[in-house]
Amino acid sequence: MTDEVERLVDAVIAGRKYRSVSRDLVAHVVQTLAGRPGRPEEKVKLARSKIHQVAFAYLEPAPSYDRWLRRIRSAASAGDRAALIEACRDAMRGHASTRERLPFLREFYATTIPDWSGIRTVVDIGCGLNPLSLALLDVPPHLEYVAYDVLGDLIDFLNAVFPLLGVNGHAELRDVVLAPERVRRPADLVLLLKTLPCLDQLEPGAGDRLLDAIEAQRLLVSFPLHALGGGRKGFGRTYEMRFLEYVERRGLAARRFIFPNELAFLVVRDS
Ligand SMILES: C[S@@+](CC[C@H](N)C(=O)[O-])C[C@H]1O[C@@H](n2cnc3c(N)ncnc32)[C@H](O)[C@@H]1O
Repeated sequence: MTDEVERLVDAVIAGRKYRSVSRDLVAHVVQTLAGRPGRPEEKVKLARSKIHQVAFAYLEPAPSYDRWLRRIRSAASAGDRAALIEACRDAMRGHASTRERLPFLREFYATTIPDWSGIRTVVDIGCGLNPLSLALLDVPPHLEYVAYDVLGDLIDFLNAVFPLLGVNGHAELRDVVLAPERVRRPADLVLLLKTLPCLDQLEPGAGDRLLDAIEAQRLLVSFPLHALGGGRKGFGRTYEMRFLEYVERRGLAARRFIFPNELAFLVVRDS
């Protein structure tokens, strides 16, 4: 890292909101600005705005991790499954992407992954609050669940929640654009739910590089059918075309599923 990059990284994470963001992600974003003309304050502002766009924009209003955790913990310790599910659903409303799936969450998984019997390891990339879906699903008891995201507070929250759901889960702070080869493998199922567009915003082509690095028997990829905030007609169609081109180039096959606001593809590789 050059001195300028180090200084800019420190300045970005000096802001309270950015303190728990993966340093790798911050360095990565800052590197695209270093060496260019412009005042350091402008570069810090640009870097924060990019990080907001790919991560914080989904978490508005500000997440209530402590309150969510208290409620989940209390339901788990009372052994009240209905209350546990409701507490998880409530928390999932805190992340725009996860919230949008809530009205059809069970149907989403029942349709795309009808049989969990051969699945022992799941890797959830750019997980947001999706790991809480486990509270609503009948997954095998010894399932190992690995989740990656770039927000430290979110990662700490998920690591506190996994044991309360009785899941052998582990969340890690990881910028998957910087180090796609470090994604856990092999896996029986990799989830890339609505994450590829964020990665391509960070670096064009990053999504394809990550897909190439994944070694999984089943890969479930999805795309939003509209931009955050509701705009951009034809959003899903663009991603569909790009993804299907990728699938064809690599000689793979994908099953397509359409949900009210999400388009999903399941790629199954021969074992
Ligand atoms: C559109 S949201 C999808 C969340 C979740 N997969 C879902 O569909 O419910 C994208 C997620 O990717 C995360 N993310 C963005 N850039 C990332 C990166 N470089 N590495 C890992 N995660 C990233 C964001 O923090 C955010 O939680």
